[in-house]
Amino acid sequence: MAVKKRLDELKHKTELAELGGGKQRIERQHQAGKLTARERLNLLLDGASFHEMDKLVVHNSHDFGMEKKKIYGDGVVTGYGKIDGRTVYVFAQDFTVFGGSLSAVNAAKIVKIMDLAMKVGVPLIGLNDSGGARIQEGVASLGGYADIFLRNVLASGVIPQISAIMGPCAGGAVYSPAMTDFIIMTKKISNMFITGPEVIKAVTHEDVSMEELGGAEAHNTISGVAHFAAENEEHTLTLIRELLSFIPDNNMEDPPERETSDPPDRISEELNFMIPDDPDQPYDMRKIIKEVLDDNYFFEVQEYYAKNIVIGFGRLGGKPVAIVANQPDHLAGVLDINSSDKGARFVRFCDAFNIPLITFEDVPGFLPGVTQEHGGIIRHGAKLLYAFSEATVPKITIVTRKAYGGAYCVMASKHIRADINYAFPTAEIAVMGSEGAVKIVYKREMDDAEDSEKLRQKKVDEFREKFANPYIACEKGYLDEVIEPKFTRPKLIAALKMLENKRDTNPPKKHGNIPL
Ligand code: HXC
Repeated sequence: MAVKKRLDELKHKTELAELGGGKQRIERQHQAGKLTARERLNLLLDGASFHEMDKLVVHNSHDFGMEKKKIYGDGVVTGYGKIDGRTVYVFAQDFTVFGGSLSAVNAAKIVKIMDLAMKVGVPLIGLNDSGGARIQEGVASLGGYADIFLRNVLASGVIPQISAIMGPCAGGAVYSPAMTDFIIMTKKISNMFITGPEVIKAVTHEDVSMEELGGAEAHNTISGVAHFAAENEEHTLTLIRELLSFIPDNNMEDPPERETSDPPDRISEELNFMIPDDPDQPYDMRKIIKEVLDDNYFFEVQEYYAKNIVIGFGRLGGKPVAIVANQPDHLAGVLDINSSDKGARFVRFCDAFNIPLITFEDVPGFLPGVTQEHGGIIRHGAKLLYAFSEATVPKITIVTRKAYGGAYCVMASKHIRADINYAFPTAEIAVMGSEGAVKIVYKREMDDAEDSEKLRQKKVDEFREKFANPYIACEKGYLDEVIEPKFTRPKLIAALKMLENKRDTNPPKKHGNIPL
């Protein structure tokens, strides 16, 4: 064959592949308010950095007339490209081809890039938009899913894995995103569920819409399955880029630095007055976090779920850090089942990827209640304790106000290997609040007293005087220093610099047994 003919043949096949399910289905995708897989990749990746692989793969199914329906690519676009100059592997399910459903060869394409991402040590990003298992292929498709799940697990803690949900994601298919590190859902067009509204209606007689059941809002506010709710597709892809800017390529590398003009020795007078005088008055911990971080920029994760704990990324002196903070503005910052789960998973991610942990603490304890106890607060709270204890990255804690009870121990206390523990002068470190303590310790005396209210107040004042400060913990060396809040930023940057070469390990083992 003449060279020209061969070139034409390549061009023709390439064009066919790039047309996916054809113009009509592309049109239908656009009408549904969705971009195509290729349009999404163009927005996600730097310039023309995408290199597609397996563009001409077709399925090998012969049932249900499928042998007559072969489309190049078979419903998923895979390859590698760059984000901010860093290599990433990506797959984008193409809903215009058999609804983006997963066939055996489609799964093999995804598996191929997962294996490469692991070998090369770079992040893996999946853009999900699929009707699930290719119904015509039966168990071959299920096997394909399982091949992917296995790789998700093997890659966990080795390379970062990020999933965007930009369409349907149902049945067992949800378990691949669920095992990745972060899930970003696009509002209005995405949903995730194990069984859909129709099955639910048949089984439990509950009436629920797709959106209510498994839309971006449900998974960002109620279930905690998702980490971000993006306004639209562009926002979804921008969030992926932003998220990656805080995360290293793999578990052997440090997170990427970014230059900042924010001086490392910046002092913030405002910080001295951010903690209210009244110990029961709420305040927004995010204001303190932002005041301290480079350029006042805090990239919050799981913003709408378990708001009593705040987690997210920022930079100090140009270096990425992870923030875990109690939030007095919501449920007084108590630890409960959901906040413990949220914090624990984030701490483990950051520890796996060498991102230092900065903990801001103002916690009155664990949330009391039958629902919490019967829901397993013991088991869930233990996850956070386990995660902080196990973490070997640099750990710095700042007690801004309350550090009460078991929560004192859990929130990266000195005893569980925090490297540096600071407190503001407003810190109160005690087994419990003064009111509660007096009720227990002086119960009998108060029952017998003529003026029990007077006695109660006297004892509460005594307790407050004794414990509502950071100095006893200081005397014992549990806190390294009480700092004037305005110096928090320079103090943290100096401590991080000092900890730059920190090395710490856990005893050799197959793996621990976190109380799941
Ligand atoms: C093969 C599929 C498909 C599937 C959709 N299509 N899902 N083809 N296998 N699973 C095809 C349709 O036939 C159609 O082809 C095209 O994709 C677009 O689908 P529509 O139904 O027209 O689109 P829409 O109205 O937007 O509805 C999307 C949908 C619906 C909600 C996803 O298609 C749907 O309910 N699909 C089935 C979902 C499902 O039950 N999957 C199995 C889940 S169990 P044409 O040729 O007309 O364009 C599962 C288990 C995984 O996935 C287990 C892992 C362990």
